[in-house]
Amino acid sequence: MNLGDTFPDFEVDTTAGKLKLHQFIGDSWCILFSHPADYTPVCTTELGKCVQLEPEFQKRGVKMIALSCDDVPSHEGWSKDVMNFAKCSTGKLPFPIISDKSRDLAVKLKMVDPSEKDNAGLPLTCRAVFIIGPDKKLKLSMLYPATTGRNFVEILRVIDSLQLTMNKKVATPEGWKQGEKCMVLPSIPQEGIDKVFPKGVTIQDVPSGKPYLRFTPQPE
Ligand code: BEZ
Repeated sequence: MNLGDTFPDFEVDTTAGKLKLHQFIGDSWCILFSHPADYTPVCTTELGKCVQLEPEFQKRGVKMIALSCDDVPSHEGWSKDVMNFAKCSTGKLPFPIISDKSRDLAVKLKMVDPSEKDNAGLPLTCRAVFIIGPDKKLKLSMLYPATTGRNFVEILRVIDSLQLTMNKKVATPEGWKQGEKCMVLPSIPQEGIDKVFPKGVTIQDVPSGKPYLRFTPQPE
């Protein structure tokens, strides 16, 4: 699947019952993220962090949905450990977990990690992240191996960039955070630039003499 492709729609079994992905997304953004297995240490730290950050995802209009090859009763049992690890020992996990026992989705979405196998020798899912827009198109994807936990604060930062750059003629530089200066898109001509960026544009000198490092305050 390429960036910009329509994310496949499918019906899945989850801890919130059966659901159809596109219907679940509705007019929201969505983060679909997989983990190798329930009751494993790195996965518990990741989902615990997701529980703590869920209000931040909600603020940005992003629905969360997790996935692994374990079954729904296993997800439900493990969720209690995740909530406890996240120091939220009351209440349910604030997002569903998909059960992909058949690996149909894992294969379709190329999330299989051939080096990780369950006790029966079947391959497990890697740590994939798919960010899907309200138009159901793929905006960003990442694949991490089982042994490397992700940073979900970084994923929130990335969502801020995706949502900003979807509407404004800017790109965000390395490590950018909300409110920091942005880069003018290379496709914007210098002529008439003040009208496009009323907050002003600063060009940084470089040895090549080419005026391509154009900074502007984050547009409203
Ligand atoms: C973990 O979540 O800790 C993990 C899962 C599978 C392989 C390695 C680590």
